Amino acid sequence: MALTVLGIESSCDETAAAVVRENGAVLSDVIHSQVKLHAPYGGVVPELASRDHMRNIDPVVGEALSRAEVTLEQIDGIAVTSRPGLSGALLVGTQMARGLAWASGKPLVGVDHLVGHLLAVHLEHPNLAPPVRPPFPYVAMLASGGHTAIYRVDGNLPSEITELGATRDDAAGEAFDKVSKLLGLGYPGGPIIDRLAADGDPSAIKLSKPMPARDSLEFSFSGLKSNVVRWVEKNGRPGDDQQLRDLCAAFQRRVTDTLIEKTLRAAQNLNIPRVVLAGGVAANRELRARAVDAGRLLDIEVIVPHIKSCTDNAAMIAYAGVPMLLAGEDHTAGLEVSPRTVLARVTRKGPGRRRGARIKRD
Ligand code: KG4
Ligand code: ZN
Repeated sequence: MALTVLGIESSCDETAAAVVRENGAVLSDVIHSQVKLHAPYGGVVPELASRDHMRNIDPVVGEALSRAEVTLEQIDGIAVTSRPGLSGALLVGTQMARGLAWASGKPLVGVDHLVGHLLAVHLEHPNLAPPVRPPFPYVAMLASGGHTAIYRVDGNLPSEITELGATRDDAAGEAFDKVSKLLGLGYPGGPIIDRLAADGDPSAIKLSKPMPARDSLEFSFSGLKSNVVRWVEKNGRPGDDQQLRDLCAAFQRRVTDTLIEKTLRAAQNLNIPRVVLAGGVAANRELRARAVDAGRLLDIEVIVPHIKSCTDNAAMIAYAGVPMLLAGEDHTAGLEVSPRTVLARVTRKGPGRRRGARIKRD
């Protein structure tokens, strides 16, 4: 019998629960967003996040079970995000999951949030077109609010996923959020800039190209952000006018160009003709469209998951838990949370000499 898994996610600013079948079919996918709570601060406030998770975790899990029309007894296992994320926020989800596991006697596995994002392309949502499910291996670009990196994905276990290069400073989503805050546009910045950029001319304002080193698979977005700061200091903050749209378009073009260029280069270097986009920034419309076109020119298939599978959700956590549950793992007794990913990193944050994040061309 195929497994049915309950997934729980509370690593950042979404309280989420989902019920997913072993093959990726999503039976329910419930998300309570804290966006409004954190919006006045222009970013996630950890203390507020934990409290709000505590208020909502019970009803969100209950809703996920009832929408899937299953009881806890009918679930085969529980998967919960245990890393990386805000410790206080992670503890809310993991404590809830442990309580459910103790009460029901079902096995519980801790899942790495990044692994969830990297496998989310396999999720099959009701009422949406079936996903294009890439065979392994594939190259994945994960760009979210907290992480930005390129991975080689050889299978669905963390040990089969290799980081090829990551950001040295800000994550791509963080850059969107900071620039949005600087321009007085609100939080989270990605969807707002996405919308404004659609009516802007990306070549009207010149911004520097982030991290131009051609053979490196690392990213850096803080220079680009400083570039926008300097532009605003010199020209003043644009009002709600064409100049604002042009600035958003110029910034977005720079970010999306680097993400696409480096990810496709990684695929070419490794001779893997398949690229998957993942994480909240993969919801960006320009990125989605241009990545597919750029891939086509190089005979690389760019697979763009449904937006629901890009932004934070618990279905991807349930799905990432499947192989561990199938292997008979049970972390109920020793489950711990960590702010760090389990995936080995090749990129160190901050300035200084680098090793390891380059791939030699054949
Ligand atoms: O993966 P995610 O939902 O949560 C994290 O794990 O961080 O990503 C959230 C990030 C935020 O920084 C948000 O501004 C960005 O994804 N984002 C976007 C878009 N939608 C969300 N960035 C660019 N364009 C978008 N349409
Ligand atoms: Zn995420």
